[in-house]
Amino acid sequence: MSLSDSIPNNVDLGSDRKLLRALEKWQPNFLSWWRDMGPEGFQEDQIWLRTAISVHADGWAHYDYVRMPEYRWGIFLEPQQGDRRIGFGDEADVKAWDEVPGEYRGMLRRIIVTQADTEPASVEQQRLLGKTAPSLYDLRNLFQVNVEEGRHLWAMVHLLHQYFGRDGREEAEALLERRSGDVDKPRILTTFNERTDEWLSFFMFTMFTDRDGKYQLSALSESGFDPLARCTRFMLTEEAFHLSVGENGVGRVVQRAAEATLADPNGDARAQGAIDLTTIQKYINFWFSSAVELFGGEVSSNAADYFATGIKGRHHERKKYDDHAALRDVYALPVVEGGRVTTQEVPLRNAMNEVLRDEYVRDCERACRRWNQVIRKSGLTGVALTLPSRRFNRSIGAYADHCFDPAGEIVSDAVFTARKDDWLPTPEDRAYVQSLMVPHYAPGEFAPWIAPPRKGVKGRPIDFEYAKLAAR
Ligand SMILES: [Fe+2]
Ligand SMILES: [Fe+2]
Repeated sequence: MSLSDSIPNNVDLGSDRKLLRALEKWQPNFLSWWRDMGPEGFQEDQIWLRTAISVHADGWAHYDYVRMPEYRWGIFLEPQQGDRRIGFGDEADVKAWDEVPGEYRGMLRRIIVTQADTEPASVEQQRLLGKTAPSLYDLRNLFQVNVEEGRHLWAMVHLLHQYFGRDGREEAEALLERRSGDVDKPRILTTFNERTDEWLSFFMFTMFTDRDGKYQLSALSESGFDPLARCTRFMLTEEAFHLSVGENGVGRVVQRAAEATLADPNGDARAQGAIDLTTIQKYINFWFSSAVELFGGEVSSNAADYFATGIKGRHHERKKYDDHAALRDVYALPVVEGGRVTTQEVPLRNAMNEVLRDEYVRDCERACRRWNQVIRKSGLTGVALTLPSRRFNRSIGAYADHCFDPAGEIVSDAVFTARKDDWLPTPEDRAYVQSLMVPHYAPGEFAPWIAPPRKGVKGRPIDFEYAKLAAR
């Protein structure tokens, strides 16, 4: 482990002068990207952040005040396991690759670049949110997520530089040139070009969109390309926090909604300055349906190739499955035929996107049950949040050509258009949510539309000074 190097790392950068020089050349470009596109208006403030300093389960992170441009973005890979074997596909049990196999180079590069591109994209999407933070606690969590997405970019760029030669270096530059939402140079995936300009959307993003990232990283952590597996395994450690920010954030908005509904004589949460459960449900419908698109087509020859070649496995491939060839089984996929939903059997390898999406949906359902517990605990009865069907509101894949209601039943275009405002946020809903976005920077103070968390960060109290802000 070397923390004194210009770039903290556990990959022995110091002994690879060429790689170190290449990364040191990329570093100032990263920093100028961070200054331009990172959190706007808070670059000089001291934020109480954790920094990854090792990969040891006990004590991998260090907490202290830091100015974000001085954050120590490092490169950390889980240690190599002696004799790791490819875990699945046609080459299962062959020794895992320490270098990129020539025939898979293009495929691997595409996967790494696509994943890498989402990291700076989300920082760009969230760059104005600090100005309307509901509390110092939330402000700090936002910036924690942001700097760690920056570190994920570093992790991926390290792979590009070390294993993909000149192509890799060019891709690393391009990652700093694309911009979320830019007409000429947009980020690669559509969702990462959408605006996340208020905090309900931020919590929905970290709940639903970042959670897609978790499952993608998990599938890559099984990869036969060992450096990618080791790199993504450590990213997952940080990712867990991002997902908790989303899940707990939505939970706290739900709690406040339920309390406000009960407190208001007419059951009108908005009259109490909270966000009503109906609006929260519409946001869930929107963000969930946008995030499930990220898993790709239901039937996919690319997904089959990724699995066959040993590049991308299933979530918990080694732990959860016995048959790592996946050649015998089929997947029963609901499809539309003759105007109704029936089931079609797909060879399992071609359904790997759907297998991963299943894991994701189950995880989201678990979170939704937790939010409903929050509602029940508040004493409010007769209302519950639901996760829409994965067929609802899709624009790519097997369900894109039909309209579905949130329960997943086919409806006509006319019905969908007529009901759309009941199912998805309207401009009025968005304007209302936006109208609540007023900053609360005093330690321990929270905006009226969100409940305080149950506990603070790393044993600190809720009213801890999570950011020392210059007078504003
Ligand atoms: Fe990330
Ligand atoms: Fe994340």
